[in-house]
Amino acid sequence: MTTQVLLKQLYEIPESDIIAEINQLKAELGDQVLILGHHYQREEVFAFADVTGDSLKLAQKAAETDASNIIFCGVHFMAETADVLTSDAQTVILPDLAAGCSMADMADDEQVIRVWQELATVLNPDECVTPVTYINSTAALKAFCGEHGGIVCTSGNAQRIMEWAWGNREKILFFPDQHLGENTALAMGIAESEMIIWDPFLPLGGNTPAEIEAATLILWKGFCSVHQLFKAEHAVTMRSNHAGIEILAHPECSREVCDTADFVGSTERIIAYVEQAKPGQTFAIATELNLVNRLRILHPDKPIWFLSPMICMCSTMFRTDPQHLCAALRSIRDGHITNRIEVPHQQKRWAKLSLERMLNLG
Ligand code: 13P
Ligand code: SF4
Repeated sequence: MTTQVLLKQLYEIPESDIIAEINQLKAELGDQVLILGHHYQREEVFAFADVTGDSLKLAQKAAETDASNIIFCGVHFMAETADVLTSDAQTVILPDLAAGCSMADMADDEQVIRVWQELATVLNPDECVTPVTYINSTAALKAFCGEHGGIVCTSGNAQRIMEWAWGNREKILFFPDQHLGENTALAMGIAESEMIIWDPFLPLGGNTPAEIEAATLILWKGFCSVHQLFKAEHAVTMRSNHAGIEILAHPECSREVCDTADFVGSTERIIAYVEQAKPGQTFAIATELNLVNRLRILHPDKPIWFLSPMICMCSTMFRTDPQHLCAALRSIRDGHITNRIEVPHQQKRWAKLSLERMLNLG
């Protein structure tokens, strides 16, 4: 039976039965299966995760586990990362293969190779540029970084990684998220005049050779379609309506939003910030809706607002529902694994190097 046919059948069963079956399959499969769940997952799926976390924590867990099957309730690049960090005997499953990341799609290996060649017309990139890829990228880009003395970063460790990268070479090429690179560098005290934006659709990224030579940070022109919906004016409205409110933002938000925020951090850090706050503290949060709604439920004593009046939800994270999770578990039980994510061998070797460089930095 194909996955599509199975899913069609599962959608005809009451959801309560699906939930009961997931519980039963989890009990039956025991420690053969580890379910990893990103904080942006919907509640009905998040509840089944053995480990929940941001992309850094989940990558660390994937590197540690000896479970033979890992179901990654997240998006494609996360499952690829888990496959790179686990042994060939372990399988990584993405419950819905269409759960991608629009930001990760904004840079592909052909483009990055072309940029490296273009940079080589101005300077020697292998001597003076460290490529740094945000973990929200394909395994091919992580492999590129591995092969060219580069590294991976997440929103939880970007500063430490950029310090490392600048410690090795004078410039960083940061992709695919302009905002994480820019917000992190500004927080590190790097002047705006040291940064250039590289538009992959323009010759030399839209820069002159002199601008490239002078820059210490080259920022790929990519963004998260969810986090770009938060605007600085939303923060102004919140502050005028709620005295004492604290604004928390994910570093994928624009610089203008991060500039207005009281705290900028990865999902795991935002959660910890709210947990540690005193009862009665009011927050407006600029990150994905499912996480913000969960924080609201977990902290009824700390009024929490969503920073944008619009619904900023990651629609690809939302694709994973109990039916897809149930289908993934059934496929393990039946010994016919579907939706396996397998990074090609050659890519895996180099991608592992750039990921391990990151994990070794702690
Ligand atoms: P975290 O690194 O905070 O998990 O963020 C990943 C992500 O995709 C945010 O959009
Ligand atoms: Fe990608 Fe944005 Fe969704 Fe994160 S929230 S997975 S960056 S599209």
